Parts: sequence; structure tokens; C-alpha cells
Amino acid sequence: MKALQVSRVTKSYGKTTVLNGVSFEMAPGERVALMGPSGSGKSTLLNCVGGIDRPDSGEIRVGDADLSGLDETGLCQLRREKVSTIFQFFHLLPTLSAAENVEFPLQLLGWEEAKRREKVESLIAEVGLAKRSHARPHELSGGEMQRVAIARALAIQPELILADEPTGNLDSATGDAILSLLEDLSERHGIAMLLVTHSRRVTEICSRTLKMRDGEIVESDEVVADESR
Ligand SMILES: Nc1ncnc2c1ncn2[C@@H]1O[C@H](COP(=O)(O)OP(=O)(O)OP(=O)(O)O)[C@@H](O)[C@H]1O
Ligand SMILES: [Mg+2]
Repeated sequence: MKALQVSRVTKSYGKTTVLNGVSFEMAPGERVALMGPSGSGKSTLLNCVGGIDRPDSGEIRVGDADLSGLDETGLCQLRREKVSTIFQFFHLLPTLSAAENVEFPLQLLGWEEAKRREKVESLIAEVGLAKRSHARPHELSGGEMQRVAIARALAIQPELILADEPTGNLDSATGDAILSLLEDLSERHGIAMLLVTHSRRVTEICSRTLKMRDGEIVESDEVVADESR
């Protein structure tokens, strides 16, 4: 089974066509970079794949879930159980501590407290934040906030992580550390990742780069060929 199948997806806002027949697939555990000029439709595509937005036509499958067959409740469930998104500006809940932000999706899934605590502790340690678990977002650096967001994304053990410019708000050394962490986590947990980026560095942790222009994928280059896929 594919981690993601996108077929002939279109999306318009009023008279403006933002996605114009986008098709591509991702294998389980694969990391793919999505590049393209500002306004080419990258975030719109990511939002459609993540169930935050809906295409006008075409098909999106995440694992065995066909998104067009899901109502709002179904899309909400998809976001809670199967797909996590990481954003440029972290989107942490400001009143919650690092650990509580990571715990939040597990509360939504109805995990009991002891199991949640145990999971959160191991996730926080995995992203290297054991000493900062009680800090609130405003007390953390950008890199630390992104580590919290990554731990939160991992909590549900997703099949697919979507990242919209995950290093866009970080200096290059911090960005590199975040990319190494994402690469390592993707390898160890077998999670597929679709990474929107303006940075060539992100493409170095990906096996392929898709290039978008005016709502279309205009180029797809295989950086590392992997016969097993
Ligand atoms: N909710 C919306 N309503 C109307 N137009 C929108 C909406 N969201 C995006 N657009 C338009 O769709 C086009 C694609 O936007 P999108 O955010 O997907 O681009 P992007 O490739 O992510 O750009 P960037 O690199 O700047 O983040 C833009 O012209 C944008 O103005
Ligand atoms: Mg964008």
C-alpha cells in the first residue's frame, strides 16, 4: 500500500486555479521535498492532503483512507489518527507546557493518564527536550519549539507527517539539527514525510524533489534511486 496517493487534484479560490491536476505517490517511509515559487500552491496541496482543506476534484488517499469519502468528522479523525502536520511558526498552544502540548493529541484519542505520561516522557526525550519539558512555548527557542511540535506530531504514531517550511523560521545551524532529527525519526519509525521547502538543504534528506509551478508539478527528480520501492 502507498503512504499517499494524489490523483488529478484541482482546487480553485474563486476564479483563481491554485491546484491544476496534481498527481504523485509516496511509498511508506519515503521522504519527499516539495519546492516551487511563492504562490505556486504548495501549502494548499499540503492542506488538502492533511484534511485541513478540500480539493474541488481528484482523489487523495492516505494509506487506505480515501479523503473524498470522509465528512468533516472523518477528516478530523484522520488528523487525529493518521496524519500530523508541522508548521513554520510551530502552532503550539501557548498556555500549555512543552509536555502538555505533546500530550494533547493523546488526550483527544482518549488515552488514559498513566499511558499518556509514559509516552510523553519518551517522546520529549527522543527530541532532546527532557530538561525543558515544563517550559511554556514563550520560554523556548525556535529550535526547541519545533522539537516540541515534532514530538507532538509523533505522538499519534502517524503514517505520514506533512511539514510546511519546518526550518523556515530557524537559523541554518538550528534548521540543520531539526532536519537531522526529522530524518532520524522518519527512519526509525518508518514514517513518510512530505516537506515543503525553499531550502536546498531539506532536499538532502529526501529521496525525491517535486517542483511546483502555477498549481502543477512540473518536475520530479529522483535524487537517490532506491530499487526496493
Ligand atoms: N484561503 C484562500 N483564499 C483565497 N486564495 C487563497 C487561499 N489560500 C491560498 N490562496 C491563494 O492560492 C495561491 C497558492 O497559495 P499557497 O499558499 O498554496 O502558495 P505556496 O506555494 O504555499 O506559497 P509560499 O511559498 O509563499 O508559502 C496563492 O495565490 C494564494 O493567494
Ligand atoms: Mg506556503
